[in-house]
Amino acid sequence: MNKLLKIAAYLIAAVVLLLIIALAFLQLGFPKVDPAPELTIEYTPDRIERGAYLANHVTVCMDCHSTRDFSRFSGPPAPGTLGAGGDVFDHSMGLPGVFYAKNITPHGISDYSDGELYRLITTGVTNDGRPMFPLMPYTYYGKMDPEDIYDIIAYVRSLSAIETDIPDSEADFPVNLILRTIPKNAEMTKKT
Ligand code: HEC
Repeated sequence: MNKLLKIAAYLIAAVVLLLIIALAFLQLGFPKVDPAPELTIEYTPDRIERGAYLANHVTVCMDCHSTRDFSRFSGPPAPGTLGAGGDVFDHSMGLPGVFYAKNITPHGISDYSDGELYRLITTGVTNDGRPMFPLMPYTYYGKMDPEDIYDIIAYVRSLSAIETDIPDSEADFPVNLILRTIPKNAEMTKKT
């Protein structure tokens, strides 16, 4: 009996050790993306104009990152909320956590460099190395033409700063761990 207990204790210790190794591996090795590139984007009127078209009508950043007025046809962003964030996506929608669309006006992204914003939009990793839930469709944005992403960055930098403080998103266990493996280096393409 004593021997059996001993074996069980060894087994439990081995499982705990394996779990610790697996967690350390996930924590230290992921998200596995390259450092943010060094970028200086020229915020020209042309870039801002095309960025406005893309962000409002193609990549629809503004649909999630504004408060929409559903009393009007197709729910356009309500005046004064463009890029202010606050939309909540949570368990009531069947999601594994609570995710907040952040403030992407200059108030919310002032501590991001252009390169960090580029990496965030195309790989889903924040400037402090946190992986984002792919509800923010970075796996798709990571296949666009870099020029289009530069235009979008020029546009969001040109938005009026709106002061809102949006809480950080939180994924449930074990999705918070699996999440770390989702971001990968972007595979950008060229428009023809
Ligand atoms: C379907 C909704 C949705 C769309 C579309 C979307 N986002 Fe997001 N975005 C989110 C959510 C939700 C988060 C927070 C995710 C998290 O923290 O896990 C987020 C986070 C961000 C952040 C992080 C800000 C911070 O303070 O850390 C930036 C910047 C951002 N989005 C910019 C954009 C841009 C630019 C586009 C368009 C190219 C875009 N988003 C499109 C939902 C969306």
